[in-house]
Amino acid sequence: MKVRKAIIPAAGFGTRFLPATKAQPKEMIVVIDKPLIQYTVEEIVGAGIRRIAVITSRGKTALEDHFDRSPELESFLEEKGKIELLEEVRTIAGLAELSFIRQPDMLGLGHAILMGESFAAGEPVAALTPDDIYDCAVSCTRQLTDAFEEFGATVVALGRVDEEGTRKYGIIKVKKKISERVFELADMEEKPGPEKAFSDLAILGRYVFPPEIFAAIKATPPDSRGEIQITDAIRVLLDRQPVYGVLFEGKRYDCGHKLGFLEGTISLALKHPEFGEPIRKIIRSLLR
Ligand code: G1P
Repeated sequence: MKVRKAIIPAAGFGTRFLPATKAQPKEMIVVIDKPLIQYTVEEIVGAGIRRIAVITSRGKTALEDHFDRSPELESFLEEKGKIELLEEVRTIAGLAELSFIRQPDMLGLGHAILMGESFAAGEPVAALTPDDIYDCAVSCTRQLTDAFEEFGATVVALGRVDEEGTRKYGIIKVKKKISERVFELADMEEKPGPEKAFSDLAILGRYVFPPEIFAAIKATPPDSRGEIQITDAIRVLLDRQPVYGVLFEGKRYDCGHKLGFLEGTISLALKHPEFGEPIRKIIRSLLR
């Protein structure tokens, strides 16, 4: 079944990025010249998906405004003859078909994805956390939807992590290695820590789900903090159908925390056609 829809859970407080996120959604934090959420939307569009539901909460209206038309700004840019900027601003509003769904209480990533059930309306959906920028030759979401179309079952993006990563991510147990990059999963555990980790393969914030995920989320009990974890819901699904993982090809920057944001900003600036050379010079002179 073709994947035509995607969900972006964007309701969280962004506590890892305070004080920047006190009065501004963390998804609007800018890397080079675009907010994080625009990178996510562009990745989704790169997988041929145009229908996107963003799960938001109070204080996140900037997300809606960013993807809306801006007639005053557009006429101002037109009058001033700033045609390139005008085109860029207009393109954002036409990137995709976005809907916004409010999550009244923040009850975990699983619960946030459940808010998109009626949007999915019985179709498979991709789900992407907007904290990360994936810098890939082929959109990371496309790498997952290709696998989903082959297997017809849940696909998660995987990455290798160190000990510290086992405390930050869901960790998987492999049932079968299908190819160099594709695995069938036997089990998974949310943030197990190094002693209990099944492997060094972590579930990153990219998923493609069949419609059955929503029943699985509803059947998932909340964790000790009262949150419904998507990892636990995938585990419920695993009793009923296979789940696959794809070691994605490319680079991921976890920009939802300060050091990852700095790494992402510097790395992407170094690759940027306009800023690459000057930033290299600046860094060299600072290190001298
Ligand atoms: C969530 C998931 C976790 C996954 C991570 C990827 O955790 O629950 O399984 O590894 O995203 O970023 P969070 O970062 O919301 O705590």
